[in-house]
Amino acid sequence: MMMLEVVFTISIFVLTSSAEKLSIDGQRVVDQLTKLATFSDHQNPAVTRILFTPNDMMARSYVKELMTSAGLTIREDAMGNIFGRFEGSDATLGSVLTGSHCDAIPLAGMYDGTLGVIGAIEALAALKKAGYKPRRALEVMMFTSEEPTRFALSCVGSRAMSGALTSEYLSSKLDENGTSFLEAANAVGYGSSTYHQLLQDALVPKGKIDYFVELHIEQGPELEKESKDIGVVTAIAAPAALKVEFHGDGGHAGAQLMPLRNDAGLAGAELALAVERHTLATGSVDSVGTTGVFEIKPGAVNSVPREARLGIDIRDIDGVRRDKTVESVRASAKEIAERRNVRHTVTLVNQDPPAICNSDIQTAVAEAAKELGLSTKSMVSRAYHDSLFMARIAPTGMIFIPCKNGYSHRPDEFSSVKDIQQGVHVLALTMAALSGGSWPQDKSEL
Ligand code: GLV
Ligand code: MN
Ligand code: MN
Repeated sequence: MMMLEVVFTISIFVLTSSAEKLSIDGQRVVDQLTKLATFSDHQNPAVTRILFTPNDMMARSYVKELMTSAGLTIREDAMGNIFGRFEGSDATLGSVLTGSHCDAIPLAGMYDGTLGVIGAIEALAALKKAGYKPRRALEVMMFTSEEPTRFALSCVGSRAMSGALTSEYLSSKLDENGTSFLEAANAVGYGSSTYHQLLQDALVPKGKIDYFVELHIEQGPELEKESKDIGVVTAIAAPAALKVEFHGDGGHAGAQLMPLRNDAGLAGAELALAVERHTLATGSVDSVGTTGVFEIKPGAVNSVPREARLGIDIRDIDGVRRDKTVESVRASAKEIAERRNVRHTVTLVNQDPPAICNSDIQTAVAEAAKELGLSTKSMVSRAYHDSLFMARIAPTGMIFIPCKNGYSHRPDEFSSVKDIQQGVHVLALTMAALSGGSWPQDKSEL
């Protein structure tokens, strides 16, 4: 009898996987994303959140509130990049950093970028709650101005962190009211006295980040079409942006006869069509060209346009081919201006090389997905992300989740609670694997 009791009271231990130890609440993430969406210049479901506006500042406060509730230590740099840190046991190692952006282009949706911030806070909170002890510190961040809306420059925060931004260039950027980045940053409590100091403060010293991983919605239809759960990103396409202006002399829409006109609006219209033509001429589906800004002045129905301003975005996964398209567009702008007798300027806003994702991170993401029984697809990112610049200073990877119909940059952007929960879970396991820390007792009592 004695013997039997001893046998039955002995605890039996079994191994449980790290995946089972983590509890990720997808609905909570969606609720938080929904609350974040309310900080918008347009009524939901549309979301518009422009850098350093009151809604952007309220979104920032909310993100910091969530970081604090998750037990993270908050730090902000002069550019307005926000970090929340879960300290690791080995201070000689760099961190495993994750994050994305919370700014939103006009009339966007509520998942682009925000998932990679709010979802990452949930991932770190879950790891903390599960008793995971990181070796490399785990950090989540919100980048300043990934979208180019206010200063016509994308990925401002990550460009600064990676040293890809000069004082001269940043100071040349003014918003539509003539406000500079430094003035805008100082007005909301970030900033510095000089551009040099501003950029120095954001610059990441070598060895500070060992890995960077970004969780994002796909923004394209491939995962959904192929019924795959997780996208393992292999590379990020190379984006370029041009600003083109045509100037004519304008005139009266009734009195000025057609042969006497030099209509800047028509020059712009021809160039927009040329962008489409040159992009299609590569014969590759990976080449894309968009004229997303087209403004004419004076903008009166009875006035011949005197001025046309175009914002042109050209991308490709092949950087050399992308550059050829950019050159063709420049040549067309010149030819159209000469033929139509208008003056023109072309400004290259950015022409960034593509980024290759780190293979160890790709493996870690694929293994995390496998542990959770999720299917994966290796794919390129056709959208750009802060990862494009983080890849210059740290091994970088991205995790995609499906979004409905591939819609993004529009109010009906949507990802399901299930896909969000799965993406956050994969992110958490990937970060734990890259951190090299330990789980509490790899055994549990039966
Ligand atoms: C990012 O928002 C992009 O335009 O790719
Ligand atoms: Mn975007
Ligand atoms: Mn984004």
